[in-house]
Amino acid sequence: VRRANSHQRSWATSSPALQLTLAQEGGRRDALEASLREAIRDGRLGAGARVPSTRALAADLGLARGTVAEAYAQLQAEGYLTARPGGGTWVSDVAASTVPRRPPATKAPRSERFSFHPGLPDLAAFPHAAWSSALRRGLREAPAASLGYGDPRGRAELREALADYLARVRGVVVDPELIVVCGGFRHGLSLVARVLRSRGARRVAMEEPGLNDHHNVLVAAGFETAPLPVDEQGARTDLLPEIAPAAAVLGPAHQFPSGALLHPERRAAAVAWARAAGGLVIEDDYDAELRFDRPPIGALQALDSEHVVYGGTASKTLAPGLRLGWLQLPANLLDPVLALREVEDVHVPAPDQIAFARLLASGAYERHVRRMRARYRDRRDRVVEMLAERAPRLTPVGISAGLRVLLELPAGGPSGAELVEGAARRSIELFPAGRFHHHGDPMPDGIVLGYGALPDHAFEAGLRALGDLLAEALAD
Ligand SMILES: Cc1ncc(COP(=O)(O)O)c(C=O)c1O
Repeated sequence: VRRANSHQRSWATSSPALQLTLAQEGGRRDALEASLREAIRDGRLGAGARVPSTRALAADLGLARGTVAEAYAQLQAEGYLTARPGGGTWVSDVAASTVPRRPPATKAPRSERFSFHPGLPDLAAFPHAAWSSALRRGLREAPAASLGYGDPRGRAELREALADYLARVRGVVVDPELIVVCGGFRHGLSLVARVLRSRGARRVAMEEPGLNDHHNVLVAAGFETAPLPVDEQGARTDLLPEIAPAAAVLGPAHQFPSGALLHPERRAAAVAWARAAGGLVIEDDYDAELRFDRPPIGALQALDSEHVVYGGTASKTLAPGLRLGWLQLPANLLDPVLALREVEDVHVPAPDQIAFARLLASGAYERHVRRMRARYRDRRDRVVEMLAERAPRLTPVGISAGLRVLLELPAGGPSGAELVEGAARRSIELFPAGRFHHHGDPMPDGIVLGYGALPDHAFEAGLRALGDLLAEALAD
């Protein structure tokens, strides 16, 4: 027996094949069990290896024989060891193969000094005080039953508060019985897409350019995506009869990434197609409240609540980390969506639903949105000023709403990808427009510049750094 280090109180066996170190904390038996489990998991004790007899190991480690026997019995019960008739204890065949293997490391995300991520709001501006007070008071006042399994559509008080808000602010035709609270718009899209696919639908039209995440959701659900071109009047919904998809995902209030507002005729064309073909429009209303030039445009869903699924999210107005979104469904989709949910069992935690319902009902949410709208409008103004000063050859497109502008690059200059690379060398995160084109390259090439992501205190410095980069990269 060797006591390896009396201060650490660790022991090692004398056999070179089995080095066991027992942790100091806890009982000896627990420490021996943990040490043996680890040796089996990391392969030091391979499948089929014979472990020392209880007597030998007890002598080796300076433990009572009964302690070793108890540890062996426990590991036998768990399936790590087997006792063979005729004596001896062995590492069981199955145990060794349960070693979890990590997938090869993927590239670590870079953390840039200045991020112009087009999909992020200013996370430092999250209304911590209002949220925590809504959470505290909500939890105190909610009945104990609110922490049970609950309604698969989401909590009733949240659906009621959402119905009131969406009808008033977004003009949605609401029925709280047909609202489903989900984990962000993306989750809602995934639920609806999987229901459609299970009914045999094969093709979904998606705005081109459009959000890559949504494209991936549709492909993962087994769909072929058909590109719906976008111009300054929004998506070419007049092409839907020709493309003949089962559904079309549209961002009528603020197309991503062009910023276009869907023209009234295109809105009408989308609904006319859905009615005539029995198609479905999935409306992505992710940031409509953040409009600077006019009151937000009412939801397309109001034109036909039977053929349009309305989807919203708190990702831009509060934070994407909440994973909080909502669907207003046509009646015929409710049961299949809930059936899918029942097996999937992914829900927004009840405390978050309770807190958000209170923020909505108290008006604190709308006050926050108003404050943020003013802040983002100021930032948008500063971006446009900076561009005019430092990079006048760049055309900012879609400046009237949201958290981003599209910068169209002049022919003969650097490509979007080159600019992104040059920016990364200066610790600036930019996004090339090419990332959002799924059926060909952008013409012209561009950068999708998000001005929401930086915290307030870093915004001016970030803008200066970006101005320096653009001025150099686009010098004549
Ligand atoms: C076009 C668009 N739609 C929807 C969303 C919101 O997604 P979610 O609610 O899944 O966070 C985003 C966020 O990046 C977006 O850019």
